[in-house]
Amino acid sequence: MSEDVLLVEDKQVEGSSPEGGVISVWTLNRPSKLNALNAKSHELLKSACSRAEADDNIRVVVIRGAAPLPAPEGKRPKPAAFAAGADISEFAGKSSDDVLPFFEDNAWDRVWNLTKPTIAMVDGFALGGGTELALSCDMRVASDRAKFGTPEINLGLIPGGGGTQRLCSILGYGKAMEMVMSGEMVGADEALRLGLANKVASPDELESVTMALAENIARKSPYTIKVAKRSVRAALDLPMSEGILTERSEFVALFDTEDKEIGVSAFLERKSADWVGR
Ligand code: COA
Repeated sequence: MSEDVLLVEDKQVEGSSPEGGVISVWTLNRPSKLNALNAKSHELLKSACSRAEADDNIRVVVIRGAAPLPAPEGKRPKPAAFAAGADISEFAGKSSDDVLPFFEDNAWDRVWNLTKPTIAMVDGFALGGGTELALSCDMRVASDRAKFGTPEINLGLIPGGGGTQRLCSILGYGKAMEMVMSGEMVGADEALRLGLANKVASPDELESVTMALAENIARKSPYTIKVAKRSVRAALDLPMSEGILTERSEFVALFDTEDKEIGVSAFLERKSADWVGR
């Protein structure tokens, strides 16, 4: 599947079990506009989510931005970007009635609600809706020139793709307030320190570091990975006492799966596990 503003490419994972596992790499592809997310980007992201959910071979989703195009003669090159936000040109003259349907069914929530693991690979600017898309992923791997930020305040707006909530749960209240109210950007080192980025790599190594993480996860039991995601996610949605009960019931239920027997036997027999995904 390949469309203009979102390119979707499935990369085979060697040694995945069940066989046929792929990492679905989605590239936001509007480099002349720093990959800003327009209405079409949202539609294609939502379709890609439906496809990822339906296709058992897709084990991990990686979302990235297209690299900048070479600069035309005499012009300065555009900077690297994951996504520099929602496309601001689509906001002009719009009323609340105009934007409500779009925000009620948006790509940020669709990505967040995927039951499979998601990784944002962030090189350069991830601003506004771009930071929110990265926050909708389970993990973020950033280049050392990545810049995260929620500058909507400068447009007379606030984040509308879940940013206020997800920043708060990842960074804590004070830092979320600072980012949302000041609009100031956070560089890669600070992002790593804050837990906004899981790993930081040089721009040259960003793809290999991201794909190594994705491949590692893609080689686990896809069934158990989904259970792991549900269980960790419960920590965000439930009080801890209920989250602990959720984890316990998920853990106990895994004792009735074939993959638990396969994993335990493989360890005891010192061989690699050949998962069946159930
Ligand atoms: N929506 C629409 N277009 C955008 C955009 C956005 N969010 N962010 C960047 N662009 C476009 C610019 O208009 C410009 O287009 P043009 O070359 O046709 O004029 C192109 O992308 C390059 O951006 P430019 O501003 O020239 O790059 P820069 O290196 O000077 O600055 C940024 C980079 C990221 C600091 C700056 O583009 C910016 O502040 N973008 C908006 C960020 C934002 O507020 N996002 C939240 C939106 S809710």
